[in-house]
Amino acid sequence: MRKKIVAGNWKMNVDLNESTDLIKSIKKIYDHNIDVEVCIAPSFPFLKESTELCQGEKIKVLAQNVNDNLKGAFTGEVSIHMLKSINVDGVILGHSERREYYNEDDDLLLRKLKVSLKNNFKVYFCIGESLEDREKNNHFEKVKNQLDKTVFKIDNIDPENLVIAYEPIWAIGTGLTASPEQAQEIHKYIRNLLSERYGKKISDNTSIIYGGSVKPNSARDIFEKQDVDGGLIGGASLSPQDFIDIVRSI
Ligand code: 13P
Repeated sequence: MRKKIVAGNWKMNVDLNESTDLIKSIKKIYDHNIDVEVCIAPSFPFLKESTELCQGEKIKVLAQNVNDNLKGAFTGEVSIHMLKSINVDGVILGHSERREYYNEDDDLLLRKLKVSLKNNFKVYFCIGESLEDREKNNHFEKVKNQLDKTVFKIDNIDPENLVIAYEPIWAIGTGLTASPEQAQEIHKYIRNLLSERYGKKISDNTSIIYGGSVKPNSARDIFEKQDVDGGLIGGASLSPQDFIDIVRSI
């Protein structure tokens, strides 16, 4: 059975005190009995404190990026080993903000994906189309193309170590959410692609989560859809109450 997952991507929004307060507040209201993998993705400088605060809490701590090399002269970069040494559980890769503002193309993302999976570092891999793609009805082709050039280049995937996050760019930070039907339609399409590439068992066990302006009042209808296994939450994850309300919507 695939996992239900709700992950908060804090992006570049909080400092040390705010990050600590957020975790403490989430811990206070988080119900450990809910069968959901809850993740938070603070910024690099706060990861160590975050993993310490989340120890024994069933809250996974993710990085927002990682380098595609394991070690060496790469000034300003952070490796998987560094992240693992402070108990970080995984990494968000392929986010549209990294693709767009930091020129992370499919080749680089494939290298990051390969090195992460090879080193048993869980990846939450984002794909999604632009507004232009959607308006031209190119969204299916776009996500297939993104997968063909990255994930599908890998011969064996382990659903324990790879989550797909469908995040339509037009819905990120805009207040526009894909309708539950739009989300279901493309999640099902992605699951079918996974099935064609890796077989039904892998496809059935791979979590596909939705991201893009998910709020407490929209989460339930989206999460209810059969092929939507949770969410990758930006803005709403900065409010502990909203974040936990979204977790509870699963
Ligand atoms: P918002 O929820 O703010 O739209 O952000 C979504 C996102 O980019 C999560 O990675």
